[in-house]
This record gives sequence, C-alpha cells and structure tokens, in this order.
Amino acid sequence: MAEDLVSRKNDPTFATRAIHVGNEPEQWNHMAVVPPISMATTFKQDGPADFKMYEYSRSGNPTRSCLEKGLATIENAKFGLAFASGLAATTTITHLLSTGDHIVVMDDLYGGTNRYFRRVASRMGYEIDFVDASDSKKVEAALKPNTKMVWTETPTNPTMKIVDIAAVSAIVKKHGGSFMVVDNTFMSPYFQRPLDLGADIVMSSATKYINGHTDVIMGTVCTNRDDLHEELRFLQNAIGPVPSPFDCYLVNRSLKTLALRMEQHMKSGLAVAKFLESHPCVEKVLHPGLPSHPQHELAKRQTFGYSGMLSFYIRGNNLETSKKFFEKLKVFTLAESLGGYESLCELPAVMTHASVPKEIRDKLGITDGLIRVSCGLEGTDDLIKDLDQALRAVMKVSQ
Ligand SMILES: Cc1ncc(COP(=O)(O)O)c(C=O)c1O
Repeated sequence: MAEDLVSRKNDPTFATRAIHVGNEPEQWNHMAVVPPISMATTFKQDGPADFKMYEYSRSGNPTRSCLEKGLATIENAKFGLAFASGLAATTTITHLLSTGDHIVVMDDLYGGTNRYFRRVASRMGYEIDFVDASDSKKVEAALKPNTKMVWTETPTNPTMKIVDIAAVSAIVKKHGGSFMVVDNTFMSPYFQRPLDLGADIVMSSATKYINGHTDVIMGTVCTNRDDLHEELRFLQNAIGPVPSPFDCYLVNRSLKTLALRMEQHMKSGLAVAKFLESHPCVEKVLHPGLPSHPQHELAKRQTFGYSGMLSFYIRGNNLETSKKFFEKLKVFTLAESLGGYESLCELPAVMTHASVPKEIRDKLGITDGLIRVSCGLEGTDDLIKDLDQALRAVMKVSQ
C-alpha cells in the first residue's frame, strides 16, 4: 500500500543490527543472551585509579554501554550516548557552545524544545534566531560569523514541515565552524538517518518510538565526529543527566522490535491520513506521505517511510469542537506524548505547545482546531472507525 508513497528501499540489515550489536553474550562471563541490568553505582578497583572498564555509573555503566552501542548502529553512527530525557540530550548538546555563540533554531519545534531555547538557553548569553528551516535559503541567510549550531527538527511537531537535511547540512559545512543537529524523534532511525544525509549530530526523544512502550523517559545523541563525541561524552559525565540502568535495559529491549513496530505505525498512519483527507468533518490533513503535502517529494527522497504521526484541522477549527471530538474517542487516548504502542490524540495549542507564545502558535498554524494524532499498534480499521464515529458525532453528520 505504501510502495507508491515511499521511494527509498530501507536497509535490510537494520533489524539484525538492532537486535545483535552491543548485545554479544561473549562480553559477559556467564554468556547471558540478554544483557543483565547492572545496578551498581560503583566498581571495585585493583588499586587507586586502576579500574577495569567502569569506575562509577555516571561516567559509564555496562547496561548503558549495551544500549549506546545499539543506538549508534541504528543511526549508522560511530558513537551513541543515552540521556535521562530528550530535553537532557538537547541541553547537553547546547553545552557544546560558549557565551556569545549564535544558534539558528527551527521556528517550528516540539514545545518543550522551543521553551528551552527561548526561556533557558537564552539566559546563558547565546544569540538565538528562530527561522523557518524548511526553506534552506532562510537558514543560509541567518548564518553569522559566530554561528555555532543549527538546530532542526523534521518532520516538525506538530505541523509536519520537512527540512531538507542534505541541503541544510551542505550550507552549514560551507559556512564552517558550526554543526547541524537534527531531532529525529518523529521518524525514528528506522525511517530517517540524518547522519547519512550530512547532519553532524542526531538526537531523539527515545521516550517516543525508540522505546515505544510509553514507560521510559530518555534521550539519545549520536554522531560520527570524534571531536563532538569526545566533548559530548565529557559533558554527559560532567553535567550528569544519565538514565538509570533499568531504563537502559528497557530501551535496549525495545530496539529489538523497532523495525517491526515502525512498519505497522506507518501502515496505520498512512491509512488514517488518507481516510481523514476524504472525511467531510476534516479541513486539512498534514502527513508527509500524502501527495497533498507540499514537501512530499522531499520526504520521499530523504526518508525510508513514515511514522504513525499526523495532524489535522477539524472542521470549524475551534476549541469547542476539538474538545467534543476528544470526549467521543474510545480507542484513542487523549494524552501528550507519541510513538507508543497505544494510539494517542492531543491538542497542541493547549497541551504540548501551550508554552509557545500565542502569536507564534498562530503564525505556525497551531490553532485550537489542529489535532495531533499518534497511530499506535492497534488494528488499523479500529483506529479509523474510532476517528470516524468521533468526528461524525461532534459534527452531527449522519452515519
Ligand atoms: C520532537 C521532540 N523532541 C524532543 C522531545 C523532548 O523529549 P523528552 O520528553 O524525552 O524530554 C519531545 C517530547 O515530546 C519531542 O516530541
């Protein structure tokens, strides 16, 4: 079904590497096939400063190492690091900069990332400009001699704009002295691998697709650059936003099913998007896999498929109708977050993006009638039926 909407063939070794890399039984004395959860915070030393692989669990932990190797392989990266949350990963990356450095940030981002740059990073003496990075020329025009970081997210949350990763990374490389970050949360490394397209750093909220079971908050950072990795690993220890070994165990386990889960998320996401596009109670659907998406061709060029994420404007485009719609849903749960096995719906304007100033939300099209949908792993028909009955009930359209 998705063949005509996806032009690139995915890497057939992805699932094999996600299952085995970092999980080799030979690394353990007891040859455990499943990596043990190593809860120790500290490790015995043979003599002062004479330790084997680990000394203290903030600087390194066996269960975290397994996961970090797995994260690196699925992003086609040399190095992977795990953090206590997606925002902890974002904060740590931003610590690569110094006071006076200039940052170009995509104007349309997850609300928490937007809040971090506007209200926290801005206090540190960085110069920050928000630009529409879905237009590469605007990124080029925004670069300054002191630009150090270009921060992008693609597709954007929740308006599904696409950044041309190869084009922006070429601009950043030509400029010199700066690096490009891609937040890959919405796609997961199964469908989009930004490092292969020229990005310097890829980060994800592993809370979403990478873990996929709505029971861990975690962030990931991967890179191929030795200089960036060395500094990021230093910062991971020096700042300390590390995940627990138990969470590392859970996310490592989730990597084993990532490829399978993403295929099903794509199937339902596309079916739901097509269904909504033809629905009388829907004004517009935002999904990069639909030919109606203004950047559909670009999406086809740089991804291997689509996740279960989409947004739509409900007819009337107002808060009252949106609220009624949520009340009627039976299979979808009204909740923040995305990328889990269960389907979720939310209203970004008052939930995930409430911290974005209203005038900016209006400019970006994050209205009270824009509903964000995360298609989970339930039966596709059940999802469609649920949306249909909720839309028809609120709009009082006969069945
Ligand atoms: C695209 C995106 N990036 C980053 C984050 C932040 O991640 P976390 O909630 O794990 O801190 C989120 C959270 O929703 C997100 O959707």
